[in-house]
Amino acid sequence: MLIRIPKRWEIPERHATPESAYLSRRELLAAAGLFGLTGQAQAAGQRNPKYTLDRPVTEEWAATGFNNFYEFDAQNKENVKNRVGKFVTHPWEFEVSGLVAKPQTFDLDALLKKMPIEERLYRFRCVEAWSMAVPWTGFQFNELMKLVEPKPEAKFVRFVTASRPDEMPGMREAHWYPWPYFEGLRVDEAANELTLLTTGLYGKPLPKQNGAPVRMVVPWKYGYKSIKSIVKIEFVARQPQTFWNKQQPAEYGFYSNVNPKKPHPRWSQAVEKVIPTMERRPTLPYNGYEEFVASLYNGREF
Ligand code: MTE
Repeated sequence: MLIRIPKRWEIPERHATPESAYLSRRELLAAAGLFGLTGQAQAAGQRNPKYTLDRPVTEEWAATGFNNFYEFDAQNKENVKNRVGKFVTHPWEFEVSGLVAKPQTFDLDALLKKMPIEERLYRFRCVEAWSMAVPWTGFQFNELMKLVEPKPEAKFVRFVTASRPDEMPGMREAHWYPWPYFEGLRVDEAANELTLLTTGLYGKPLPKQNGAPVRMVVPWKYGYKSIKSIVKIEFVARQPQTFWNKQQPAEYGFYSNVNPKKPHPRWSQAVEKVIPTMERRPTLPYNGYEEFVASLYNGREF
């Protein structure tokens, strides 16, 4: 008799993910009033069923234990979570400025009370060819745009991460990088329904190593476009410079849409490795979000 033992990545989603556990735990805690206001606002949000996955949700320990956040550790992804302790993420303000009719500074707690928070399952693909699939909590970036009213001349959006060398040891160690981390999107990309301003993960406030308290999630682009711990958002007329493009323009383009056919100069992008099993899967064009975003492009922007 042949007993076939399923490999780890073949475990059905309902077993592979602790989501049922965290959902009920979250609901219990919320019902018992055990969340602070911030926790409740950031973590709450019904799952939007429109955004489905073709694979199991990544186990929480893996998505929160294997991180790219160079401000804390530019060398060791598994060590980022051990170095975030001093980072103060509450209270938190971010500024929205530039070519907008209503420039303003938002207090995150106050903002979250009025935003339509929801949960979405998204694939997430790093340029280094690893990937995960996780439940983010947040709201569409275009909801923030409604509050600030971009002017017609605004064609791009520029994002900047907090710069606190005393709290971020990687900034001091890797001092040659042009800190703070900065990124950019075209305004129509920022306004796309998939583009999320995110404050939660697995139904809880965003862990510091994943970009607390507020980060972008742009799921059809390589992960470095999804900038963490944002303090400034500026609407501008011209395509802004980005952190990785500034170091290696040939390797990290402004658009950086996931494309299996366009190899990174140092490795193929045809296949990705799903954390934590490192199961290999074919990379999907636009990370599987072609139907939402292909119309934004004329085929040349990769
Ligand atoms: N944002 C900042 N400020 N600093 C970073 O080093 N790394 C990027 C992106 N955002 C990074 C960042 C990269 S390369 C990836 S793949 C994702 O964050 C990783 O997000 P995760 O740790 O939540 O998986």
